[in-house]
Amino acid sequence: MLILGIESSCDDAAAAVLETIAPGEAVVRSSVVATQETIHKRYGGVVPELASRCHVRTILPVIEEALETAGCRLQDINAIAATRGPGLVGSLLVGLMCAKGLAQTLGRPLVGVNHIEGHLLAPLLEHRVTMPYLALVVSGGHTALFLVEEFGRYRRLGGTRDDAAGEAFDKVAKLMGLGYPGGKVIDEMARRGDRGKFKLPRARVRGARFDLSFSGIKTAVALALRQAAGVNGADHDMAASFQEAVVDMLLRPTLAAAQEHDVETIALTGGVAANSRLRERLSSEARNAGFAVVAPSLKYCTDNAAMIALAASHRLLRAERDSLDLDAEAALAL
Ligand code: KG4
Ligand code: ZN
Repeated sequence: MLILGIESSCDDAAAAVLETIAPGEAVVRSSVVATQETIHKRYGGVVPELASRCHVRTILPVIEEALETAGCRLQDINAIAATRGPGLVGSLLVGLMCAKGLAQTLGRPLVGVNHIEGHLLAPLLEHRVTMPYLALVVSGGHTALFLVEEFGRYRRLGGTRDDAAGEAFDKVAKLMGLGYPGGKVIDEMARRGDRGKFKLPRARVRGARFDLSFSGIKTAVALALRQAAGVNGADHDMAASFQEAVVDMLLRPTLAAAQEHDVETIALTGGVAANSRLRERLSSEARNAGFAVVAPSLKYCTDNAAMIALAASHRLLRAERDSLDLDAEAALAL
């Protein structure tokens, strides 16, 4: 069975063809992503209106490329999957409407997918993971810990009360004049910095062990930067100190949740999963504590449509599908 996945929840337009070869087994035949980074860069963040307009122009070429790379025609596709939320509603609508049009014209089932479910299952595109497993979803829009109990059963254990971790990286990069998005630049600068140079707070949420808060750290960074103005190497040291604080804040609840829920594996996913220090420390600290760690390759950590098609394949196995009046939901809960 061939599933065409479509993802357009934020500023990436993506399409993928997934082939299911046995129940629960699938291979990615193609996965194409068109990013809009250059469009939003000059505004320092994603401009929703520009994002949806750009999706209108790119979604069909992206789908065509995904079909071509997979070596199949539209008529060969057996089901159409699209992200229906959460995300920017104008962006979501472009992918979802396109999926509906294709499903109706081809007479194929339509499956609407929750974007977060896609991220939670992304590690399974390349790895076999025993359930239940703990997933840390950490991106520009989301930061949360989920227990993946089985396909379709996900328990949110905690998450950020304010900014997402990627958002904190982007805001701090902006403060430091490093441009947008800033996570990758901070990661690179941090390699040459002193992690212990600036004493930054590690926020905790009282009474909620698995919750996080990143809104205070950018103020702390701003104050420390002001005091260190003109000091040689301060930027690299700040990048390293800030990154270390974020990694500390992410690791503490992750390891505690893994222990409490007695999982074998911790899965790391979302754009911030690209962070080299987070990967390094999670791998060593989780392994020391007896857990296996899996992280998808970078192309499946960031937004992509293969993860959406994979989530749809499991919904189809359960005979779940959606009607053509399915709507996009900006704040869709899992
Ligand atoms: O998953 P993603 O592509 O988009 C969504 O937010 O859904 O994640 C993008 C986020 C941005 O905030 C970006 O700064 C961050 O991931 N990011 C990183 C790194 N690469 C990307 N953050 C820290 N270290 C990185 N190497
Ligand atoms: Zn995402």
